[in-house]
Amino acid sequence: MTAIAIDGPTGAGKSTIARRTAQELGFIYVDTGALYRAIGLSMLRRGIDLENPAAVESALDEIRVFLRFQNGEQRVMLGNEDVSDQIRTAEVSMAASRVSAVPAVREFLFQLQRDMAKSNNVIMDGRDIGTVVLPNAQVKIFLTASPEIRARRRFEEMIAKGMQTTYEDVLSDLQQRDYNDTHRAIAPLKAASDSITLDTSGDTFDQAVERVLALIKSRISADMHS
Ligand code: DC
Repeated sequence: MTAIAIDGPTGAGKSTIARRTAQELGFIYVDTGALYRAIGLSMLRRGIDLENPAAVESALDEIRVFLRFQNGEQRVMLGNEDVSDQIRTAEVSMAASRVSAVPAVREFLFQLQRDMAKSNNVIMDGRDIGTVVLPNAQVKIFLTASPEIRARRRFEEMIAKGMQTTYEDVLSDLQQRDYNDTHRAIAPLKAASDSITLDTSGDTFDQAVERVLALIKSRISADMHS
């Protein structure tokens, strides 16, 4: 099995780029952020204090999260409910960032993520895929772009979906989440030592996909010949 890890901060284009790249390669695309989001959503619905790790940990016992694939598209399930659309709000984004700092949440999701890569060729994106979840991934990419460009892309995406927001709010949310994700004690966002960093600030979406694909193909063929 081949595993490709794509990590990087919020709004670097990981999911759109990874989804397209997976289609090109015939791999399954696994968006691990969706799992943290589903847990964040469930905690919000239960009224759990997200700043209280013990409360978050004990509520985990009642949560069942898993991924389903429908026509190659990932769907996120919370028990019997498909929450793929509900997890995309700004409120759930922040909740996901908070719960992801709780070690018990990371442990809870660890095996599930590992198992996906056992029986499938995967492109998995997240924050700790190359460092923790799939340390033996054949290709590790750290995808990044400047905060302003990431906020601009995210803002346009949200407006296109009909969400009400401002660029300033998106930028400040993103900076807060960057801070949370890079400063948490466990599995913080950082580039794996054997990853390749790609800064997509100057790229269009198509250019970024091309660069990622070229890198993956050169790595995989180098692997096959070594
Ligand atoms: O990629 P995303 O924005 O959907 O992720 C939501 C939150 O989940 C993000 O703030 C950090 C967290 N996350 C994580 O800690 N580890 C991952 N592998 C993926 C996401």
